Amino acid sequence: MTDESSDGLSAHNSTSGLNNNDAQGFLGVVVEGSLTQGVEVRLDPGTSVENVKVGTFVTIQGSQYRFFGVATDIALGNSDQRLKHLPLDLGDPFISQALLGTVAYGTVSVLPNLVMPLVRGDDEAAPSAAKTIPPQFSLAYSASEADVATVFGQEDDRHFWIGSPLDMESKLCINLDELVKRSIGVFGKSGTGKTFLTRLLLVGILQSGQASSLIFDMHNEYGHGGRDSDRGIMVKGLKQLFPSQVSTFTLDEDSSRRRGSTPDEVVRIGYGEIEPEDIELLRETLNLSDVAASSAFNLEQKFGPGKWMEAFLDLEDRAAVFDLAAEIQVQPNALGSLYNRLTRLRRFGFLVKESGRAAARIIEHLERGKHVVLEFGRYGDDLTAYILVSNLLSRRIHDAYVRQKEEAEGGAGKEPRPLVLVIEEAHKFLSPSVAPQTIFGTIARELRKYNVTLMVIDQRPSVISSEVMSQVGTRLTCALDDERDIEAVLAGTSGSRQLRGVLARLEPKQQALIFGHALPMPVVVHTREYGSAESYTLLTRGPMRESAAGNDGSPDAAETPETPTETPEQRLEREVAELFQQ
Ligand SMILES: Nc1ncnc2c1ncn2[C@@H]1O[C@H](COP(=O)(O)OP(=O)(O)O)[C@@H](O)[C@H]1O
Ligand SMILES: [Mg+2]
Repeated sequence: MTDESSDGLSAHNSTSGLNNNDAQGFLGVVVEGSLTQGVEVRLDPGTSVENVKVGTFVTIQGSQYRFFGVATDIALGNSDQRLKHLPLDLGDPFISQALLGTVAYGTVSVLPNLVMPLVRGDDEAAPSAAKTIPPQFSLAYSASEADVATVFGQEDDRHFWIGSPLDMESKLCINLDELVKRSIGVFGKSGTGKTFLTRLLLVGILQSGQASSLIFDMHNEYGHGGRDSDRGIMVKGLKQLFPSQVSTFTLDEDSSRRRGSTPDEVVRIGYGEIEPEDIELLRETLNLSDVAASSAFNLEQKFGPGKWMEAFLDLEDRAAVFDLAAEIQVQPNALGSLYNRLTRLRRFGFLVKESGRAAARIIEHLERGKHVVLEFGRYGDDLTAYILVSNLLSRRIHDAYVRQKEEAEGGAGKEPRPLVLVIEEAHKFLSPSVAPQTIFGTIARELRKYNVTLMVIDQRPSVISSEVMSQVGTRLTCALDDERDIEAVLAGTSGSRQLRGVLARLEPKQQALIFGHALPMPVVVHTREYGSAESYTLLTRGPMRESAAGNDGSPDAAETPETPTETPEQRLEREVAELFQQ
């Protein structure tokens, strides 16, 4: 080793007084950066790179402000290029120890998203978006639980505990008021935890009391129980946790009963309720050409709204179809194939001759403040049934909301209660080719003009139209590995380039990157556990009752989660009243 480099070493050693900084969670000092790219923190020799993970929270003490951000990348650096080329015996622990933290060091890229209130513990002042960055040599620390609570809020009626930040025990909360103001997206590959995360979100929405939800429950997972295939157990659904606040509807009564669910209502849909627009949407699943699908409009003209479908399916044979084609001037083969495909719908037991008034009955339940789960039973495996029914019902319900909202604006009646429509396989409704025509596309574009928003659950976000994606206010994404899907989820988000690395490294299960309206900044969470007896107790008790009861986890409270416990004052009052009754 030359003199020069040993000088270098001693110089570095003398400045590493930072080592003595024994404040908890000290990481290192800011050495460079920019607002758009984030800042580079050079790790303190006392902190191993292996102890820092992407996605963890970091605070940086600037000279005026305290910044709060997230680690987006971790790297190794060295201040002397010769390190790579000199024949040093790096296998010798003394030599490598001497070099580590001096000539060779670790760095962490941090995106400082927020500026914290100047006074610690000042709950009035909220963190605000960072418009500047901390200067060089500012000290960086791992964020504390108190910092996390200041930024994301404490669990209460408005803040729902959704999970915990990486490597922390603390409760990370999302703002429920903001969550339901815009549409919500839950993304991730199959088996990553979308359904479990959605159940939690639905409990949050239910507890917020701000909105009702209507869940098109394709795989029968949200109402009466659902499978946890990994643990080989059944988990509870919303109806079991909140029996008085949830109504179950079913398209397949037999399936519901077999699964032990007693549905509140059985849904029937009249042929007359199917409109040509519905057929347009089924083009892909029924494998219809454009011409064939659009000839439904000609049929409606010929037979009249509400009558065309039955009249068409009542035709005796192909010859009759061809005669009709000549009469209404559509291509005979196109009409023939429409006829063939539509006859398939006859096997849906829920389709009946007269109107089923299903939408009206759902609205009645929603108006009573209930959350409605529509179980598809065996029809959930049939995408045609799922698309047909959820689109048809949503259109009618949306119409009713538009009417009610307009009446309320005109001074007659009250505003409809906000409604969140929950759909799975959302890309089937919201791909660029169909989104402009479907009710779901309309709802996404209207924002919440008529008090209706969407919660879309999907494994292929890249297939959802980008216009619709841009309207999704809060996105929760579990692991994704297709580059296009990752890009689609992050599109339009500030810091998307940095978040890409975070998203690509999510655990395969029960971990999600959450960002958008319901949170002040993007965050990776380990999703809150769902499925154990304890989880049900905590969920049904809600945040306030938990602290009021003060007897966390007592078996009595677990069995009767919906009965409030009597306070000493109430007991005294009751006992006095009972005395006088005698
Ligand atoms: N919050 C959670 N609590 C408990 N287990 C979970 C949670 N999230 C995911 N899991 C586990 O991961 C598995 C897959 O989750 P699921 O929500 O069914 O995936 P997806 O809907 O994305 O296909 C579940 O069967 C469960 O074992
Ligand atoms: Mg699922």
